[in-house]
Formats: sequence, C-alpha cells, structure tokens
Amino acid sequence: IAVMIIAGIIAYFMGNISPAILIGRLHGIDIKKEGSGNAGTTNVLRVLGKKAAVATLLIDIFKGVFAVLLGKLAAAFFLPPEFAPYTAMICGLAVFSGHIWPVTFGFKGGKGVATAFGVLMAISPFLGLAELGIVIVVVAISRMVSLGSVIAAIAFPFIANYYDPRYLGWGLLMALIVLYKHNANISRLVKGEESKISFKK
Ligand code: G3P
Repeated sequence: IAVMIIAGIIAYFMGNISPAILIGRLHGIDIKKEGSGNAGTTNVLRVLGKKAAVATLLIDIFKGVFAVLLGKLAAAFFLPPEFAPYTAMICGLAVFSGHIWPVTFGFKGGKGVATAFGVLMAISPFLGLAELGIVIVVVAISRMVSLGSVIAAIAFPFIANYYDPRYLGWGLLMALIVLYKHNANISRLVKGEESKISFKK
C-alpha cells in the first residue's frame, strides 16, 4: 500500500508540470487569461499557434505515459502481480488529477484529455488507440476538439469495461472528471457557440 501511495504522489506531481502554463509564460502571457482560459493543447493552439501546441500536447501525453510506467515498475519490483493494474490505475488517476488540479498553479490546470491519452497508451495501446480514433473522427467531422473529448469520455467506460472489467469503475471516474471539466464547453456546444479549430498561426 505504501508503494502505491508513494508512486501516486510522485505521479500527481508529474501531472503538475503544465507545459501550457510554462510555454505561455515563455511567450509572456498567462494562458489562463487567454482564449478559453484552459491550460491545454487546444487553447495553446488557439492562442500561441501550432509549434507551441505540439510541444504542449507531447509533454502532457508523455507525463501520463511516464506516470503509469512508474506505477508499473514500482508494482513489478515491490508488489504481487495482482496489484499491477491497480497501481497503474492509481498513478494514472494521480497524474491526471495533478494535471487538472495542480497545487503548484493554484489548482487550475487543464481538462486532462492529452494526459489521459498518455495514461491509456501506457496501460494498453488498445485503450489509447480506441479513444484516439474516436477523437480523430469526431474532430475531423466537427472541427471542435471539445466535442471529440466529450464523446470519447462518454464512450470510455464501455471501452474500459470491454478491455477488462476491473477498469470499469476507474474508467467511469476518469470519464466523469473529463465531462465535469468540459461543462462550459458542453453549454457552448448545446448553444452552437463552441469555437472550431483553425490552423492560421
Ligand atoms: O481538452 C480540451 C478541449 O477538449 C477543449 O479545450 O480550450 O476549447 O476549452 P478548450
């Protein structure tokens, strides 16, 4: 249990590393006060352009990957095999929460989508690629990243349960957090006012 808690705490602080906020600062802006006010890839693309968005996306994905790998390694070294999926789930939820609610940035981070994708890839590429497929199809059709994120979140508990029923409760929790963080997007979507992505910059 101590191993799980320590790995979870390290994962939480990995989640605190917010490339959106840091790259924003390098450009002399506060990303929380620009565009949608979200510290994530979509808003960095909107405000700072493609290069900054790619850097944000990759760092947010990789912190999710590394946090779960840390959990898997810790479990492999210190715990019986049946604990491995739970350690991965704890570290995944921790890095995701650290990204969304970073203590280092006044608990105001992003919406967790890119980091969750990294977490899923590290748990199982099946989970990550299934979710990525949904996001790509929805965003290609609608041009709205938030709609892709919302639909992928709704689908996730079903995909997680299909992959392995032990992931159902965890998948439901991750999905509910993503939906909760998208409440402003959801009301804009309902009103038909959500902003579409563009690649001007
Ligand atoms: O993952 C965030 C995306 O779904 C929406 O971002 O900046 O449009 O609120 P944003």
